[in-house]
Amino acid sequence: DQSTRELLLSRIRDVADYPKPGVVFKDITPLLADPKAFTALTEALAETCVRHGATKIIGLEARGFILAAPVAVRAGVGFIPVRKAGKLPGATLAQAYELEYGTAEIEVHAEDLEAGDRVLVIDDVLATGGTAEASLELVRRAGADVVGVAVLMELAFLKGRERLEPALHGAPLEALITL
Ligand code: PRP
Ligand code: MG
Repeated sequence: DQSTRELLLSRIRDVADYPKPGVVFKDITPLLADPKAFTALTEALAETCVRHGATKIIGLEARGFILAAPVAVRAGVGFIPVRKAGKLPGATLAQAYELEYGTAEIEVHAEDLEAGDRVLVIDDVLATGGTAEASLELVRRAGADVVGVAVLMELAFLKGRERLEPALHGAPLEALITL
C-alpha cells in the first residue's frame, strides 16, 4: 500500500556520482538496516509470491539474494540463486547478456529447476532489464514457467520494462516503487 511505499522510499539513499560521474546510485543499505522497512519489504514480496502461486523464488546475485531469501522463507517456497558466472560448482545453465559496455554472464544450477516449477524472479532494481531478461531465459531453458518478476525499484527512464516485455510472455513485472 501507499504507506509501505513511502516507508521503503524513505529508506533508499541517493548517492550522487556513484559508481561514475552523472549516475545517482540507489543505495538500499538504510532499508536493510531498518527492521520495520526490511520486514515490510519482505512481506510485500511474499504476498506477491503467494498471489502468483509461485513454487520457487529466484534471487539475482548479489543484492537480489538479500531480498529474495527471506521472502522464500516467509512464503514457504524454495530459494534458487542465479549467480554471476563461475561461482556455482555443479552442472549449470549459462546465459550471456549485453551491458552498456561489453557482456556479462549468469548461471543457475540446472538441477534446481524443472518442468512444472512456477518461478518468481526477485531483484532490487530493474534498470536496463538485461539481468532480469537473462534470468528469464535461464528459467525457460530449464523448462520451468515464469509467474512474474518482482523488484523493489524500477528505473523507468532506462526502459527496462520494454526490454523485458518479450521475455515475460505475458507474466507481470511488478515494481513496488517506480522512479
Ligand atoms: C544491479 C542491480 C540489478 C541490476 C539491474 O546489479 O542490483 O541486479 O544491476 O541492472 P539491469 O536492469 O541494467 O540489468 P549489479 O550487477 O550492478 O550488482 P550487485 O551484484 O550488487 O547486485
Ligand atoms: Mg544486482
